[in-house]
Amino acid sequence: MAEPRTNESMEKIVSLCKRRGFIFQSSEIYGGINGFWDYGPLGAELKRNVKELWWRSMTQDRGDVAGLEATIIMHPKVWEASGHTSTFSDPMVDCLLTKKRFRADQIEPQSGVVFHFCDAVEAAAAISNANETIHSLPDGEQKEALLGGVQKAVQLLRNALKVPRDKVVQPMELVGAFINKYGRRGRSLERSFSVLVASETDSARAERVAQQFYEQQELIAPIPRLAKREPVKNSKGFNPEEGPGKGAELTPPRLFNLMFKTYVGPVESEENIAYLRPETAQAIFAQFKTVLEVSRQKVPFGICQIGKAFRNEINPRNFTFRSREFEQMELEFFIRPDEVVQAIYGRVASAGEVANLEPRTTNNQQPTTPDTTAWGWEAWHKYWVEQRIRWYENIGLPRSTLVEYWQQPEELAHYARATVDILFKFPFSKRDDQGELTGEELEGIAARSDFDLSQHQRFSGKPMGVFDEELKVAWAKLDETTKKDLWRRYHDARLKYLTKSGVPAEQAARDATADADGLAKGQYIPHVIEPSAGVDRLLLALICHAYSEDQAPDEKGKPETRVVMRFHPRVAPIKVAIFPLLKNRPELVRKAGEVRELLRPHMTVFYDEVGAIGRRYRRQDEAGTPFGVTIDFDTLGEKGPELKDTVTLRDRDSMKQERVRIGDLLPLLLEKVR
Ligand code: GAP
Repeated sequence: MAEPRTNESMEKIVSLCKRRGFIFQSSEIYGGINGFWDYGPLGAELKRNVKELWWRSMTQDRGDVAGLEATIIMHPKVWEASGHTSTFSDPMVDCLLTKKRFRADQIEPQSGVVFHFCDAVEAAAAISNANETIHSLPDGEQKEALLGGVQKAVQLLRNALKVPRDKVVQPMELVGAFINKYGRRGRSLERSFSVLVASETDSARAERVAQQFYEQQELIAPIPRLAKREPVKNSKGFNPEEGPGKGAELTPPRLFNLMFKTYVGPVESEENIAYLRPETAQAIFAQFKTVLEVSRQKVPFGICQIGKAFRNEINPRNFTFRSREFEQMELEFFIRPDEVVQAIYGRVASAGEVANLEPRTTNNQQPTTPDTTAWGWEAWHKYWVEQRIRWYENIGLPRSTLVEYWQQPEELAHYARATVDILFKFPFSKRDDQGELTGEELEGIAARSDFDLSQHQRFSGKPMGVFDEELKVAWAKLDETTKKDLWRRYHDARLKYLTKSGVPAEQAARDATADADGLAKGQYIPHVIEPSAGVDRLLLALICHAYSEDQAPDEKGKPETRVVMRFHPRVAPIKVAIFPLLKNRPELVRKAGEVRELLRPHMTVFYDEVGAIGRRYRRQDEAGTPFGVTIDFDTLGEKGPELKDTVTLRDRDSMKQERVRIGDLLPLLLEKVR
């Protein structure tokens, strides 16, 4: 995606996704459900490929990560320990007019003039009042204004009573008819309401919006009473969306917990409440000790999981980017605390030492194992940032499309030591001052200290620490000054955590001392580095990056626009398409069937014999199929024995065709798609 893209291209992408069956709305026949998406045949294949590649790179390609597949609903205590029950909330605001809900922190600041209305009076009351006073007023401005008000009120009553345009009715007759129909209830309403408009001259629009608001409050023909108007700058207090509610006042922000609630068992009571998991990570922490034991791993090692997560997002948006049901691919990589590394190796390697690291690779090359001796959290964090970016490159997202964003200290979660977000430059991303796309988060890589395991230890009462023989042996050999120094540092870190978590001071002091004493026995709670990626966001990034248009000749040689999904062959939903040149020649069809059966056990194959060959190529270009194999008369040996059993292999991107022996096809393709 070299060229900056616009939201126009986003529209084309969404439409292609639907047309070709990559992604469409969930429950579409019922009008869809906001924030939920289904993957069609091509999307499902793409998704499986991405998950499979991630899983392989995390588990099979390395020896130090074990997999887990945990349940979506877990014991509610898990979410108390993780902090989700109390703090997993977004500030939300509601439009007072349209009731649309927004995330307060995502509202674009707006400037203009605010019209404050103190309340509204029903038009009937306004006419009656005017009727009583108008005769006693001398001619002049005040009388003019009152007459103007009456005219407006008359119009409102005519609308409310649906009086035909050409029918002449006296104002007081209208008042009588109105009261007959609606009664005198609610003739005025004391409820303030404000509207932001671009300038003073938009007063009529402000009044119209206010009128709608007071109508909703059961004033049938309301005349809003203006209290004051004032200029405002960069306000986040008004509906930002184009449409009838634009500029209407928003409620003050309220916190809204994003977890989906349900009940376990037949009784819908408080004690049966459970949650759909908002992240897959917590199951890994909760099962840490079990997986450690059964997998016979030693720290440093990781546990990874792919699975569904659910968040009741206030404002799902940008196609699948922010959904309410989505999938995550998460790794918790457990490491020794720096004090332990220092005790064992006498030093802690800095992040700089891993900067030029040769990566392990999934690219059919021999994986290289880095020397991780003496790596502390900074080195491991840096390593995982680099690994993850290389993985994205490996599946077809060049580094130039990604941004490595280091969160500022004030943005970090309180337990995080550092977090790097890997952003992808989506077409809908904002642009910076230079016009460059700034990118949106694909994945976060956080150094989370020992916070999560410590929380689960406190809430479950089960020990989450590990025994490390190397530490025990090394500790015994340390001199007293080093022991004291390391003991103090570990103690202080534990005390800080315990105090911040609300453990009473005396107990926190006792626990921190016990934890630091544990070092001598080879015991500690591991720290963790967490690369956490979203499958759906990655798919959207791959689709956005793959989408391209170029010019190619049609059947008659005339140039036409070609839509091509330039997926990397590794992720492409269909790897190869098989085309017999003509469907009414049984020899061609039989041979094409043989080629299909040859390739099918090894990759996704699509067989297509319908339509002109050019059209068939185009259909596969749109699906992102990187290779096309055509079986023609040469294949049958009709033009000479030297071409017998050869096929044309077409490359999707260059559209170049080469002649390949059927016997060479499988190894040639396998090399490209793996
Ligand atoms: N365990 C850490 C964690 O869950 P997160 O930043 O909240 O961190 C990780 O989520 C990733 O999950 C994000 O980088 C994103 O790719 C994906 N994700 C989060 N919320 C999402 C949503 N509403 N829709 C789609 N993907 C989402």
